[in-house]
Amino acid sequence: MKIRTLFILLIMSSGIASAVEPKNIHKTTGLIIAPGWELVKTNCTSCHSAKIISSQQSSKNGWLKTIQRMQNQQGLKQLKPATEEKILAYLASNYAIKKTARRASLPAAALPNNPWKKCCLTKQKVYKIITIRKNMY
Ligand code: HEC
Repeated sequence: MKIRTLFILLIMSSGIASAVEPKNIHKTTGLIIAPGWELVKTNCTSCHSAKIISSQQSSKNGWLKTIQRMQNQQGLKQLKPATEEKILAYLASNYAIKKTARRASLPAAALPNNPWKKCCLTKQKVYKIITIRKNMY
């Protein structure tokens, strides 16, 4: 009975672990490993790091404009249409515009009191803040 419970728990926890597993990231380039990533590695990382790509977010059309910019201004060679399409599909699905890149601001009620607010400052409080700040460095 106990062994069976343990077994069930083990299966459940492995399911949870795989559900939160981050995307596969290629170690040296930092690119997300998904169909087409090697084309990006070969065609897009000879002049700059892949980070300049992976730090961006864009739509498919935006990525197309980036490729064209690379070709018109930076010397990227013309790509075979099939290669370009695969690169675009990869970039558009793995480096799409995220709806929320940052969390929403906390509501005022959830923030600590503002110690600098004029009404609430006493000499003691100012002294305390200065001492805390001094000890920080
Ligand atoms: C022949 C060299 C070269 C190749 C190949 C190249 N780039 Fe670039 N790329 C550059 C240069 C140079 C810059 C820096 C421009 C700057 O500093 O303003 C740049 C900047 C960028 C930027 C950031 C600035 C911007 O204009 O958006 C992105 C994104 C980018 N490249 C994507 C790509 C992608 C995707 C590919 C492959 C399809 C690629 N690059 C291939 C030369 C290249």
